[in-house]
Amino acid sequence: MEWNNLLNIVVKNQGLHARFLNTLSFMENAGARKISSCEHPIEVSLLQLKHAAEEHRHAYYLKKQIQKINVNWCLTYNADELLAAVSTKQYLNQLDIKACRLLKQQFNLTGKDLKFAAYLFVTYAIEVRADQLYPIYQEVLSEQKSRVMVKSIILEEAGHLEEMITQLERFSVDWQSVAAQILDIENELHSAWFKALENDTRQWF
Ligand SMILES: [Fe+2]
Ligand SMILES: [Fe+2]
Repeated sequence: MEWNNLLNIVVKNQGLHARFLNTLSFMENAGARKISSCEHPIEVSLLQLKHAAEEHRHAYYLKKQIQKINVNWCLTYNADELLAAVSTKQYLNQLDIKACRLLKQQFNLTGKDLKFAAYLFVTYAIEVRADQLYPIYQEVLSEQKSRVMVKSIILEEAGHLEEMITQLERFSVDWQSVAAQILDIENELHSAWFKALENDTRQWF
């Protein structure tokens, strides 16, 4: 199955759709927290503050969209209010752990420097994914004339990818070869996450 097939099924079913929005909100929130936790206590840039603020807004915005389906649904991030809860958490954690391991080897970093490098590369990989996923989602929403909308997120995510590339270029001239390896790791984890979403969706029918 492809993303648009899965999303067509999800958007048609209100219970599934609310949980999907909540799952994306959970991920955005985890991403926002990650960015904030990687901030240098003193030397935090305007760009990093902007990025954290926007990811927090995405988490809020997606949660708010659920109210268009049902105001009483998915009030928390409880596992039964998410789709593929275990795999969703694993995707984020594993990406972080595996990226840190690789970056430690490649650049010989520790402590704050490793944290910052992880922020750059992990966020980059997530932005590449977001730039693919949200437009497909919006297309399905428009086709099905859903009241849910993610257009404002798409605009900001495109900006984030550019900003990450700018920061990566400043970090290392050799960033692209390392980024390619991080994208491979992300690809594998994404496949596992997608499979889990498919399985979870099937259980609804
Ligand atoms: Fe986001
Ligand atoms: Fe983003």
